Amino acid sequence: MDCDPQQRSLLFRGRAAKRYWWHTGPGAPAFIPPVYSCLSDDEWNLIAAWFEETERLNLAGECQVPLMSVMQGLIMGSQVRSIVQAGHYAGYSTLLVGFMLRRMGFRRSLFTVDIDRMSCDFTASWVKRAGLLEYVHIEQRDSADPSLPGLAEQYFGEPPRLVFIDSAHTYGQTRRELELWFPRLCPGGFLICHDSSAFAATFDSTGQGGVVRAVTEWKAEHPEVQCMAISGPTTFPGRDAVYEDVCGTFLAQKPGPARGSP
Ligand SMILES: C[S@@+](CC[C@H](N)C(=O)[O-])C[C@H]1O[C@@H](n2cnc3c(N)ncnc32)[C@H](O)[C@@H]1O
Repeated sequence: MDCDPQQRSLLFRGRAAKRYWWHTGPGAPAFIPPVYSCLSDDEWNLIAAWFEETERLNLAGECQVPLMSVMQGLIMGSQVRSIVQAGHYAGYSTLLVGFMLRRMGFRRSLFTVDIDRMSCDFTASWVKRAGLLEYVHIEQRDSADPSLPGLAEQYFGEPPRLVFIDSAHTYGQTRRELELWFPRLCPGGFLICHDSSAFAATFDSTGQGGVVRAVTEWKAEHPEVQCMAISGPTTFPGRDAVYEDVCGTFLAQKPGPARGSP
């Protein structure tokens, strides 16, 4: 597979698999998005090899360019250096966030949790190959395990500044994750939930309404928290909306004094 560093994701334009939807079809971008253009050639070559390997092993399940771009803006625009992730699967978001954190020079800055042993082993092998061992900690555990916030804080040496939830997508697990992690954010810290759209409610294997129900209820119970549910197209992979990810994103900011304020 060609992984020409100059072409980068432009090569994805010719690919048929569903995971390349952002790069294909009518209205597809003719540019390399900043999440990829900011990588070094070696980093891009690793991501290209990761796509090749996960394609071969049928491990597509990663979040996509729109959400990674929101995260890149928050993380690199504000030097966010203590990040918890719930759900790493095959490692896509782990590698991209790890590269951002390495670019900013923040060691011990991504604490990522997944319940699945295979996902942890697979992601760990790519984190090692990417040279990110000093930046990323991988934990095999349920992301709502009450011992986790303490472990994450110990790893960072401070409370998390960003918690990114992209795990089971069930109503119950999302409620538990929100209850566990939001209080442990530092004041002004961000919480992001992927798959918060009505479309993504179908990902809830328990049939209880998914992330959208969990965040809607949680938001109503916490009127003091600034929240935003970003929605996208109504059908996959439609481009009939400003935000292009049909799965949507929920963003909440913990109230409190800004870092460094009196
Ligand atoms: C959508 S994938 C994560 C994708 C990843 N964030 C990315 O963009 O590359 C969801 C992951 O959540 C994990 N997961 C599901 N239930 C979980 C739980 N209760 N605790 C922790 N991880 C869980 C799954 O094993 C799977 O690997």
